[in-house]
Amino acid sequence: MVEWIDPNRMHLDLGKDSYDIVFGKDLNSTVADELEELKLNTHRPVILTDSNLIRLGLPQALQATLEEKGHAPIILDFPAGERSKNWQRAGDLLEQLADHGCGRDTVLIAFGGGVVGDMSGFIAATYTRGIPYIQIPTTVLSQADSSIGGKTGVDLRRAKNAAGAFKQPARVYVDISLLKTLPYREYVSGMAEHIKHGIIQDPSLFDFLEANRYRILERDLEALLEMSKRSLQIKGRVVEIDPHEKGLRRILNLGHTAGHAIESASGYERLHGECVSTGIPIALRIARDTIGFPAEDVQRVTRLLNQYGLPVTTPNSISDDEIIRITLLDKKAKGGKARYCLPKAIGQMHEFNGEYATPVPEEIVRAALLESR
Ligand SMILES: NC(=O)c1ccc[n+]([C@@H]2O[C@H](COP(=O)([O-])OP(=O)(O)OC[C@H]3O[C@@H](n4cnc5c(N)ncnc54)[C@H](O)[C@@H]3O)[C@@H](O)[C@H]2O)c1
Ligand SMILES: [Zn+2]
Repeated sequence: MVEWIDPNRMHLDLGKDSYDIVFGKDLNSTVADELEELKLNTHRPVILTDSNLIRLGLPQALQATLEEKGHAPIILDFPAGERSKNWQRAGDLLEQLADHGCGRDTVLIAFGGGVVGDMSGFIAATYTRGIPYIQIPTTVLSQADSSIGGKTGVDLRRAKNAAGAFKQPARVYVDISLLKTLPYREYVSGMAEHIKHGIIQDPSLFDFLEANRYRILERDLEALLEMSKRSLQIKGRVVEIDPHEKGLRRILNLGHTAGHAIESASGYERLHGECVSTGIPIALRIARDTIGFPAEDVQRVTRLLNQYGLPVTTPNSISDDEIIRITLLDKKAKGGKARYCLPKAIGQMHEFNGEYATPVPEEIVRAALLESR
């Protein structure tokens, strides 16, 4: 069971892969102090980050703090953005680790958003058949979702996240002060995953996001801390029950079937969270038309997404045919039918034949897509 060791430290119980998630502000010295305590053989911490964060000097600040405490970290970076999350880039970074003479006694520190986190986890899973890694998420999205749970990987040309591995981090530091420099569009985009968590499991989180939207949009640190704790607690509970996505964990894919298709069809012009935001009302309309999800809650959710400034309509440049074609390539598709994660109500997901992914006839998907124009 997810357990709070103190108000700022959550423990995720995954047997030998268990770890803590530490929440707070300005956590660089905590990270440095705890590297020893983690008993990782930290001969060489490697901070993996992206070009935007380097420009802001944030990984360099962590590097300086680690140096003050007697570590000798190096920094590797790559061009920011989803287009870097590929096989070639991961291979290049693996080569760079070897060039630096990194051995099994290396600990990787993923310092960045979901792209850095997914790439770092994948590299940590494969370098010398596995080295430990720490997540320091720096975006709303990664502080809501991607930094825990151990799903790592890269995109293939035809499908997102299509090559990867399960690899849990050794520890996660959710430092909300890092969100100060996040561009507004990225900030808002990440809100989609928080709203998703409210819909799938926790009506009180959904209420919190409705009631506190001004504070959240003004980046009130206390509100951000509260939101991240609640969201990661929800995800943590799901991951504990189903770490390898055999069943329950599928609920975390709400909005992602159509969302991923739009993301890939847009050539990654739309951000991940924006596509999830577009995908959520599509899934809810499908749920309304098939399993009786209340019509007024479709409106309530759509209103909240709108209030955060998130897109809820499918771009006209992407056709329904294209979305449908891509959803059939989705990992969840089965027997030639796209499958969707559908809620029965806010806070309650629908189970179909013991699974949380329901095959949906194409005409129902088409009707929901038409409404999203
Ligand atoms: N593994 C999982 O469970 C999981 C879950 C959800 C999403 N994801 C993945 O996460 C990725 C999206 O993550 P993301 O939205 O964090 O994108 P991202 O990592 O690309 O970061 C978004 C942008 O913000 C910049 N940035 C990051 N932190 C910053 C900061 N503190 N200040 C200023 N700029 C900053 C980055 O350079 C980038 O340009 C997708 O690839 C998605 O597939 C993974
Ligand atoms: Zn997502």
